[in-house]
Amino acid sequence: MNKDGTCILGIESSCDDTSAAVLCEGQVRSNVVYSQDIHRKHGGVVPELASRAHVAKIVPVVLEALEKAAIEASNLDAIAVTCGPGLAGSLMAGASFAKGFALGLNLPLIPVNHMEAHVLAHFIDCETPVELLPMLCLTVSGGHTQLVHVSEQYELRIIGETLDDAAGEAYDKGAKMMGLPYPGGPVIQQLALGGRPDAYPFPVPRAGGFNYSFSGLKTSLLNTLKQRFPGGFSAETTEAADLAASWQHAINRYLMLVFEQAFRAGTYRSAGLAGGVSANRDLRERMQAFCKNNHTRCSLPAFEYCTDNAAMIAFAGSLQLHTQKGSNRGFKTQPRYPIGGVKTE
Ligand code: KG4
Ligand code: ZN
Repeated sequence: MNKDGTCILGIESSCDDTSAAVLCEGQVRSNVVYSQDIHRKHGGVVPELASRAHVAKIVPVVLEALEKAAIEASNLDAIAVTCGPGLAGSLMAGASFAKGFALGLNLPLIPVNHMEAHVLAHFIDCETPVELLPMLCLTVSGGHTQLVHVSEQYELRIIGETLDDAAGEAYDKGAKMMGLPYPGGPVIQQLALGGRPDAYPFPVPRAGGFNYSFSGLKTSLLNTLKQRFPGGFSAETTEAADLAASWQHAINRYLMLVFEQAFRAGTYRSAGLAGGVSANRDLRERMQAFCKNNHTRCSLPAFEYCTDNAAMIAFAGSLQLHTQKGSNRGFKTQPRYPIGGVKTE
């Protein structure tokens, strides 16, 4: 895997994490992530605040990544940067910096699809990728839920996806309804410790094919809150832990149900999880149990490569470097950007 001596700087700014990483000869030398906490009190990401924070942080984050990797900018061979999908202003903040930096250093730019990078994060530090392919990967992030077929040639094909909210949004919006801070996933996971997952029954949605839909679950949570917590919700109580555990159970059980149906309908050598929600311990345990019961390999990225990070962008860029033509410094960011091939100049 690209162990040819090249050093790539990766830059990620698609949402609320400003990140830079250096990948040399296929090895991650540094991966610096600045997570913006200004959004906590707003219950979700405020796009304008996110863009401003990226502009403020991009230079120190990049310099720290170079310093930690012990490499001079003049020794880089290329810069990989997220070009979409994501928030328009956030993407532009990272891409504008990357274009200027690449121009100044006379380096090629590699525009990377953020969702492809989440999936390819499985192969960072992986000595025997061929044993994992073809893989069925469940990508669960704050903006996307996708079932992705990964071929032996690393070609990615979506075979199912959410028709409305993403799994991460179900965590975040559920937390917001319960009066808990953003991002909701880790907060719900923490609150769920010691709670009973069967305390509050939620329905199992059906979206058709290998697709997902979370809107019915959200309505069900709203009704539960109105009926069972009419006077409000305090995170300190046993009932709160039970509700968080039940909500986590409902989301993860549903994610795995459709995944299992899709897995059985195809031929795969491994099952994988990717994206921010793949940091969820209960979901990881469910995936491991599925793999064990089905005698299949399981690929769970290291925690640092689950949520948004630039190491995955540098790595995905390294796979594209030798096939892309031109310097690509004129590429356009694409807030809505489907998986399936990065546009070149
Ligand atoms: O991939 P990511 O970092 O950013 C996007 O590309 O969207 O995913 C962020 C999402 C958020 O919705 C957050 O609540 C969720 O990942 N998340 C979790 C956990 N850690 C992050 N959800 C459940 N359990 C977690 N431990
Ligand atoms: Zn992401």
